[in-house]
Amino acid sequence: MNLHSPSATQRLAARLGKLLQPGDVIELSGPLGAGKTCFVQGLARGLGVARTTRITSPTFNIVLEYPARLPLVQIDLYRIADATELIELGFDHYLESGAVCAIEWLERFPEAAPPHRLSLQFAIEGPKRRTLSVVGHGRCKKLITQWLGGQP
Ligand SMILES: Nc1ncnc2c1ncn2[C@@H]1O[C@H](COP(=O)(O)OP(=O)(O)O)[C@@H](O)[C@H]1O
Ligand SMILES: [Mg+2]
Repeated sequence: MNLHSPSATQRLAARLGKLLQPGDVIELSGPLGAGKTCFVQGLARGLGVARTTRITSPTFNIVLEYPARLPLVQIDLYRIADATELIELGFDHYLESGAVCAIEWLERFPEAAPPHRLSLQFAIEGPKRRTLSVVGHGRCKKLITQWLGGQP
């Protein structure tokens, strides 16, 4: 799917945010600057996070939480060294908390990936052009048709 501007990315994300259910997990991957955080900003709007709340990359915090219709938990595993640190972080606790979890760098810990999740892969095609490919796992598969309908 083509995303031709940051606002197009956010609009698409906001539509997904409106559909999400407790415990849904969104995995975001792709290079730096591909639009993962931009997407999470739109997701937050769709979930009802207050417009005044600034959504940034959780790189230094690892986990950031935002209250909304369903709480949004943003997790960045870039700085997590191993499975022990992942446990200490309370990773499983967040997954089971009923919040919506948006996770970056989950591909570093394939064994920790929950069976129900939507995997979003972003790629940079030009200054404003990004592409997004979506794979659904487990019960999150059905989200794709609700979200994208007949869109290619
Ligand atoms: N189509 C697009 N979708 C998302 N971001 C875009 C797009 N075009 C340009 N950008 C810019 O690319 C950058 C994406 O940054 P960010 O979302 O922080 O990326 P990441 O979290 O993947 O490192 C932002 O500066 C944004 O304005
Ligand atoms: Mg980011």
